Amino acid sequence: MSFTQRPSVVFTEGRGSWLQDSQGRRYLDLVQGWAVNTLGHAPETVAQAIAAQAGRLLHVGPGLHNAPAIALAERLTALSGLGRCFLASSGAEANEGAIKLARKFGRKKRGGAHEIITFRNAFHGRTLATMSASGKPGFDTLFAPQVPGFPKATLNDIESVTSLIGPGTVGVMLESIQGEAGVIEAQPEFLRALRRVCSELGLLLIVDEVQTGIGRTGPLFAHQRAGIVPDVMTLGKGLGGGVPIAALLAREEVCCFEPGDQGGTYTGNPLVCAAALAVLDVVTAPGFLSDMSKRAARFREGLDALARREGAPACSGQGLLLALELPQPGRAQRVADALRERAGEGLLVNAVRPERLRLMPALNASEADLSLALQWLDDMLRRVN
Ligand SMILES: Cc1ncc(COP(=O)(O)O)c(C=O)c1O
Repeated sequence: MSFTQRPSVVFTEGRGSWLQDSQGRRYLDLVQGWAVNTLGHAPETVAQAIAAQAGRLLHVGPGLHNAPAIALAERLTALSGLGRCFLASSGAEANEGAIKLARKFGRKKRGGAHEIITFRNAFHGRTLATMSASGKPGFDTLFAPQVPGFPKATLNDIESVTSLIGPGTVGVMLESIQGEAGVIEAQPEFLRALRRVCSELGLLLIVDEVQTGIGRTGPLFAHQRAGIVPDVMTLGKGLGGGVPIAALLAREEVCCFEPGDQGGTYTGNPLVCAAALAVLDVVTAPGFLSDMSKRAARFREGLDALARREGAPACSGQGLLLALELPQPGRAQRVADALRERAGEGLLVNAVRPERLRLMPALNASEADLSLALQWLDDMLRRVN
């Protein structure tokens, strides 16, 4: 089925920050499977963990325990401070689970409250409920009627949130940085104000860290920059480093699912849990994220210098989730296409909006590869308007 526009080349191999197509052409990859490949393409440790697990146990289904799923749930709950974990296969599925958990909590603990305040331009996935929770323009009519119960507030405007709170409200759900909207940050003061309001009123603060989690923005979870702890958090993308796994985490007191409420054939699949454990081993090793943050800061300096030369605003984002604004209509896509097709080796970047380029390198991308990317971007910005 046709669902998106893609270049006609077929990719066959990848190693670290580099991809190769079927013609043997090489590309420096700053998209990394949409911020999924935390450790780049085909990382040795993850490949070995998958191979070892594949030879031991592939799948047992949701009705039986398995060791990698238990180990992963233990790791994620310890790292997040949230007491319970449900493992899923995609970000949308984890968010769908968060919405169901909040609705169940509202029914059991808050007199039937079921509304979750979400945000304009937010992106939470492509199931019907997560599209309804999203605030992406057009999602409201695309598969109408929407799932009801997601009034929309404006990011970084606490009054736009408080004015929507009523007896039907059970929680507030947001991304720490709106990725698909173009890398728009929830300010730390705003996150702290949301935490205060939710705590005072007994509402659930649900943070979608599907794109921002697992170190991508510097800390392990992006909301940690604001010094808050949510009641519910979702993870996906970078957790598996290239394999489909996601997680829904919540405070013990919030976890009110009863048998039959939640599940899925692939929940806790041992193969993908083994991959996630291998990713976490690397990302949580002493020095990994502080080293990444240093490389990310130098990369950002380079991008900001390009932005100044272009007369554009400083880049947005944190860590290695960054966006460069190119205010000329459609220029971001033209630059991204020209970089992919450049003479010699290509560079992959993402025109997340017609006027914004998004960069999501592997967290272990080398200083040399990041500065090569800056050099090629610099050159292309001089040539493509
Ligand atoms: C913040 C956020 N939430 C949820 C999703 C959906 O994740 P998935 O595509 O794995 O369903 C995405 C995907 O881009 C995302 O960026």
